[in-house]
Amino acid sequence: MNLLKNQEGVNDKYAFLSEDEIVKYVKKHGFFLEQEQVSVTEISDGKINHVYRVVGEHKSLIYKQAVPYARTVGETMPLPLDRVRVEAKVLQEYDKILPGSVPQVLLLDEVMAIVVTEDMAPMEVGRVALINGTESVRFSEDVGVFSAKTIFYTSDFYLDPMVKKELNASLNNPGMRRLTEELVFDCPFNFHESNFFEEDMKNDVLFLSRDQKLRLEVAKLKHKFMTKADALIHSDLHSGAIFTGEDKTIIFDTEFACFGPFGFDMGHFIANLFLNGIGSPEFQSKRFQNALESWYAFTDTFSQLWRNESAEPYTQIDGYISNLLDEIFADMLGYAGCELIRRAIGIAQTDDLNHEKDEQKRMNRRKRVVELGKYLIMERNNIRSLEELENWFN
Ligand SMILES: Nc1ncnc2c1ncn2[C@@H]1O[C@H](COP(=O)(O)OP(=O)(O)OP(=O)(O)O)[C@@H](O)[C@H]1O
Ligand SMILES: [Mg+2]
Repeated sequence: MNLLKNQEGVNDKYAFLSEDEIVKYVKKHGFFLEQEQVSVTEISDGKINHVYRVVGEHKSLIYKQAVPYARTVGETMPLPLDRVRVEAKVLQEYDKILPGSVPQVLLLDEVMAIVVTEDMAPMEVGRVALINGTESVRFSEDVGVFSAKTIFYTSDFYLDPMVKKELNASLNNPGMRRLTEELVFDCPFNFHESNFFEEDMKNDVLFLSRDQKLRLEVAKLKHKFMTKADALIHSDLHSGAIFTGEDKTIIFDTEFACFGPFGFDMGHFIANLFLNGIGSPEFQSKRFQNALESWYAFTDTFSQLWRNESAEPYTQIDGYISNLLDEIFADMLGYAGCELIRRAIGIAQTDDLNHEKDEQKRMNRRKRVVELGKYLIMERNNIRSLEELENWFN
């Protein structure tokens, strides 16, 4: 693709930039001096975008550019370039709600689908930390507080209804939502060709697609995700979208964000703790405790905000908060179940399970993740507390 430039030297058409062009781009935007030595290193470890660390003589930054498809899959998985705008806008929304909880956005170029952010090094990506057991003690609690604050402050309990609907419309994100709809709710339950797993568990995966009771429950969860605009959700709040450090926890990679059900983000986060615990038995009880810490931080924070900061008069009605928290809890379990199953057998797998070299052990753990996922989906309305799940983790 040719780089078309207008008179100010600003690109007026999308083009994917090479590493040399990135150096020119960041200098042109004033991040570095013309004569400065600047190096560019690709650090993409996800599936979707191109991410680079750009290092000058005195500072570094993170440069992320989208291509109109998923980087590791190619043009057979087209994706909207607009995801970069959503990513940057949502980081800014989160920063307004909880200052310092996300990397600072330094530049958004909507035409070029580029976002430049603060470099969070030397913080560690949460997933890597969970696998190595190096996450900070505050990690899980911080994520619970983050989820409670971000959903409360973008919900109708707090925001002016006009403002909320406008924010919802501006972050519509249909293309990324569709990817979640397919990858989380459809493919794992359809015996889809993109699924992968050990050959000996083929029947287990086939049975998921034949289990009509399970598929009915997944259908309900999917429909709720598609239609219920409770609040701004991150929508991909797995441990690989969070940095962990001793004195702070940072949320990033908000390109899937949209308005969705309250319980969705906590479901994803807790599922990733469970996934890690089942994938590394030495951590299983710790991860279960982490899930409790996160959930109770979430409910405490949400309840406190409800009491002290609600703008919606109905929040004074007796019984409303407990009714709502019951619904969030059941949804959280259901979405955790879907996330567990898709991380176990779907296209977006992680090292939590796959680091195990022994095939038999790895498969047994994968099967257990699928079993737990099914249980959470099917029993979400009957499970009264997270503590009831303890026997899965000892
Ligand atoms: N602000 C940052 N500071 C330091 N490192 C970062 C930052 N943003 C991203 N990274 C690094 O780059 C990697 C890829 O970034 P990111 O997850 O945002 O990309 P992605 O292509 O959207 O991934 P995915 O396929 O998971 O959506 C991260 O795992 C992290 O290691
Ligand atoms: Mg991403």
